[in-house]
Amino acid sequence: MPIAAPMYKETHLLPSILSADFSELAEQVALVMDAGVRIIHVDIMDGHFVPNLTIGPAVLRSIAPLVHGRNGVFSVHLMIENPEKYVAAFVEAGADAVSFHVEACNHLYHTISEIKALGAGAGVALNPGTPISTVVEVRDLVDFLLVMTVNPGFGGQKMIEPALDKVGELRRLTPERVAIEVDGGVHEENIRRVVDLGGNWVVAGSAVFGAPDPGAEARRLMKLMHP
Ligand code: DX5
Ligand code: ZN
Repeated sequence: MPIAAPMYKETHLLPSILSADFSELAEQVALVMDAGVRIIHVDIMDGHFVPNLTIGPAVLRSIAPLVHGRNGVFSVHLMIENPEKYVAAFVEAGADAVSFHVEACNHLYHTISEIKALGAGAGVALNPGTPISTVVEVRDLVDFLLVMTVNPGFGGQKMIEPALDKVGELRRLTPERVAIEVDGGVHEENIRRVVDLGGNWVVAGSAVFGAPDPGAEARRLMKLMHP
């Protein structure tokens, strides 16, 4: 379903199911949604762009009714080569917003317009070492920009602090209607700083699903984001 424009301006916690227990994925997603989460972050890895493999559209499709049925949406993060080849499959499976990496795509304009033509929100993601100049060109076309604060591939890594500096700068350079998603190493100690710098879609994988009670942890992190 298309994401309403105000949602890109709001501050949201996006639990990443990468760190969930996949044997009870539906229950874990329901727990965080019951805690007030509206956006679920889904990490797609191909073993080429990043040294890890995760899930494909089938898993997304299986949890889509649960999330959409509770008025939630998915932000799908493609860490794959040739993202343009797979965008339609993920939107068809339930992706509401799709990001792909600037480092993995030679045709930014084309891929952004393809995602939008399919009715989903379009985002471009940046690795920690990639300068923001690579996406400034498309800031008026995208719905969100994703700043990686770890090297993509795995959950549970320590935040690369200098990568966080890009968040403030990108926020200043980007229209207000565009969300800045921040992904990697976010936890209770740094989540407030991420928000203060201008990150408004904040991903947390291990911090949420590594906790004994993911629902309670999501609530706690959301409170820290909105003091
Ligand atoms: C990493 C993924 C992240 C990951 C974040 O490549 O893009 O979304 O799930 O996990 P944490 O929050 O544990 O760093
Ligand atoms: Zn991610």
